[in-house]
Amino acid sequence: MPEDDRMKILGICSSPKGSRSSTLRLVRAAKEGAEENGAEVELLDLCQLEIKYCNACQTCYKTGRCVHKDDFQGLYEKILAADGLVISSPNYFHSVTAQLKTLIDRMADAAHCQLLTGKYCCSLATGGSNYDQVTGYLGDLMIGFGAFFTGSAGAEMSGGPAALEEGERKARALGRSLVDDIRNKREYAEQRAVQQSIRSHFKELVRMNKENWKHQYDHWNSIDWR
Ligand SMILES: Cc1cc2nc3c(=O)[nH]c(=O)nc-3n(C[C@H](O)[C@H](O)[C@H](O)COP(=O)(O)O)c2cc1C
Repeated sequence: MPEDDRMKILGICSSPKGSRSSTLRLVRAAKEGAEENGAEVELLDLCQLEIKYCNACQTCYKTGRCVHKDDFQGLYEKILAADGLVISSPNYFHSVTAQLKTLIDRMADAAHCQLLTGKYCCSLATGGSNYDQVTGYLGDLMIGFGAFFTGSAGAEMSGGPAALEEGERKARALGRSLVDDIRNKREYAEQRAVQQSIRSHFKELVRMNKENWKHQYDHWNSIDWR
C-alpha cells in the first residue's frame, strides 16, 4: 500500500497521569497491535490539549463550527479523518474522566449528523476495581455516533501487575482486530440495527429543527437522508 493510503488510527488517552498512566499502557499496547497489522497510529494525550466546555449554544448545529477557539477543531479533524479510533479512560466514579467527557460533549454535531459512520472503534479502560462500566459506556457511545465497535479491553488495578500485563496482551490483540475490521469492512448486524434506529431518531430531530439547524439539515440533504 502506498504510504498515503495506509489505514489511519487515532488513539486517545484521557488519563491526567501522563507517562505514569496505566491506561496509557493499554493504549500503547493497542497501538503496537494495530501497527503490527499495518496501520499508521497516532496517539494523543487529551490532557495536554485545551478543550473548553460545550456551552450548548447550537452554533455548530447551524454552521458546523464551534464558537470556541481552542484545540478542539484540530483534534476533531483528526477524529473525522481517521479510519479507526482507540478511545480510552481510567474509571473515574463509574464514568470517563472529565477531560474525555468534555471532548464528547463538544461532539453533539457529530452525533446529530452521524459523522463516525463507516469508522471502527475500540475502547480501553483501567479501574481500581472495575473498568467495564467505562469500556461499555464508550462502546455504546461510539455506536451512537454511527461507528462500529470492535470490542474492548481493560485492567483492574486491584489485580496487581499481572492484571495490567493481561490487559496489555488483550489490548494488543484488540488493536490487531480493529485493523482487521477496517480492512474487511466487517459488518456487525446487531450494531447495525441499533445504528439504524439512532439514525432515524436524529434525522427526525434535524427535520423538526430544519429552520434553525441549517448545517445539519444541509448535511442530511447532501447524503439524501440515507
Ligand atoms: C477521581 C478518581 C475516581 C475514581 N473512581 C473509580 C471508580 O469509580 N471505580 C474504580 O474502579 N476505580 C476508580 N478510580 C481508580 C482509577 O480508575 C484507577 O486508579 C485507574 O487505573 C487510573 O488510571 P490511570 O493510571 O491511567 O490514570 C478512581 C480514581 C480517581 C483519581
